[in-house]
Amino acid sequence: MRYLVTGGAGYVGSHLVAEIRDRGGEVVVVDNFVTGHRDAVLPGVRLVEGDVGDAATLQAALAFGPFEAVFHFAARSLVGESMRDPMLYFRENVGKGAILIDSCVRGGVRKFVFSSTAALFGVPGEGPIGETAPIAPVSVYGESKAMIERMLAWAGRVHGLRVACLRYFNAAGADAAGRLGEDHRPETHLIPLAIDAALGRRPPLEVFGTDFPTPDGTCIRDYIHVADLADAHLRVLTRLDAGSVAYNLGTGRGHSVLEVLRAVEAVGGRAVPHCLAGRRAGDPANLVASSARIAAETGWAPRRAALEAIVASAWAWRVAHPDGFAA
Ligand code: UFG
Repeated sequence: MRYLVTGGAGYVGSHLVAEIRDRGGEVVVVDNFVTGHRDAVLPGVRLVEGDVGDAATLQAALAFGPFEAVFHFAARSLVGESMRDPMLYFRENVGKGAILIDSCVRGGVRKFVFSSTAALFGVPGEGPIGETAPIAPVSVYGESKAMIERMLAWAGRVHGLRVACLRYFNAAGADAAGRLGEDHRPETHLIPLAIDAALGRRPPLEVFGTDFPTPDGTCIRDYIHVADLADAHLRVLTRLDAGSVAYNLGTGRGHSVLEVLRAVEAVGGRAVPHCLAGRRAGDPANLVASSARIAAETGWAPRRAALEAIVASAWAWRVAHPDGFAA
């Protein structure tokens, strides 16, 4: 089986590529390395360096087909940046997404799996968030992903493209074999920041908000291992034979910021220096997925759902790569 992966040098994309390779599949990666890392492209993977907004790049990549499916990860993904420069996100994510979808449809691609986000749901109500929750993003980043989901729905209706929109909650952890890990620049995510603080490689972590309506006052998130996300991407392919789908992907279990810090301390055997700070703009109190639908329809279940296991894999990679991937 051969697959095309856009953004295959990025965090979640590279872990999917590793999963495909481990299962004996072939991969062509398209990446422009604006946020991806060259060292995250594993040996044996064919690389087409370029932009998903560039038709010639896409033509070159699609020429290595036919592909069983296209997995689309390439995107800007910083909520804060999207609120400072909205048009960057509409240009990069939506505009280039349209060019990619168009090229795929013209190139005969039948199945398309899209890297979507819990940010679609804005500030949802109480309880686990299922697929019927209203789509009401409160960031331009979330809006840009919602718009791509809509474009894909139309590509399905008009061209028969089979689409899976996978809304990740908080992707975390690292490759069990130690080949890959999380390395965003700048890093804004809780687990890698807490690990670096524990290792003394950053100033104390700021806990953003202690007055949320949660048991300990800090935000609750649903952390899901990247390898479990990768597994979900491959499982949905068979399900697409019956039609397009959208799935929320999490473990169904939430952890507060303070619980995450305690998990990092337990795994690393050292304190996470931190201070209590005010809220970060736009953080909802509680985001936990209901993944009942993908479980029922594909048999998927997170296999590395325990927070300490997730943190342990992230810790192992960071200790082995204190500066992340090579610059
Ligand atoms: N947090 C801190 N201090 C930090 C960093 C984060 O307290 O230095 C807190 C945040 O306030 C939040 C939690 O840790 O409560 C998790 O924050 P992350 O930045 O790791 O993740 P988010 O939940 O903000 O964002 C994730 C994805 C986004 C996606 C969003 C959907 O990274 O891409 O979920 O809501 F849009």
